[in-house]
Amino acid sequence: MRNRFVIGNWKLNGELDANAVLLADLNQKVNRESGKFCAVCVPFVYLAQTQNVLGKSNIGWGAQDISRYVAGAYTGEVSAKMVSEFGCRYAIVGHSERRAMLGDTDAVVAEKFGNAKKAVLTPVLCVGETLDERVAGNTENVVMRQLHAVIETHGVAGLSGAILAYEPVWAIGTGKTATPQEAEAVHAFLRAEIARLDVEIAAAMPILYGGSVKKANAKELFAMSNIDGGLIGGASLVAEEFLGIWQAL
Ligand code: 13P
Repeated sequence: MRNRFVIGNWKLNGELDANAVLLADLNQKVNRESGKFCAVCVPFVYLAQTQNVLGKSNIGWGAQDISRYVAGAYTGEVSAKMVSEFGCRYAIVGHSERRAMLGDTDAVVAEKFGNAKKAVLTPVLCVGETLDERVAGNTENVVMRQLHAVIETHGVAGLSGAILAYEPVWAIGTGKTATPQEAEAVHAFLRAEIARLDVEIAAAMPILYGGSVKKANAKELFAMSNIDGGLIGGASLVAEEFLGIWQAL
């Protein structure tokens, strides 16, 4: 059995008081379940608060990004090692919002992936196509290019211990979820692509789906054989929704 995950991505949201309420609620209600992992990826400035509240809980936490650099004169950057000092277990790399708007090329994503691993963080590598790419029939080419950029730099062995997240850009924040069958097809493709290089790593690799997951649609997505959980945006900001998704895992 592969490990399964529900991971929240708060994006550019949060404030101290609201975070305290949300985190306390999750802390109280997320029970320990073997092989299942719940986590939240919060803005850097809330890592200390998150560590304080969740420190002894069943819930992990992580960063939404890390620098491509390790240290030095890079004003405003935050390194993998810095976030690991705040107890992070995870770091999202290559989220489509960063790829589209914040300069994360395939090469930059590969550097960030490597920095996460060096700092003993679990990278959550996001891949996914835009609507135009899907309509043009390029979904598989796009996710393959994004995946192979990391494999070329770190080898297929570099994927061991990482998490992959398929997030079709057209489904993010739009309320338009991929159908379980659409998502499963891409997940199965990604797993087969890794299996061409290493069958064991492919079999063990958790592949999460992200894009308008809600408690109302989580169960049918998570029932697919290659969907090992979800990366949750908007619904991770609402305790009842996020807990509902966790319960569907
Ligand atoms: P939504 O769940 O808001 O669609 O966002 C998904 C996402 O981008 C998670 O990383």
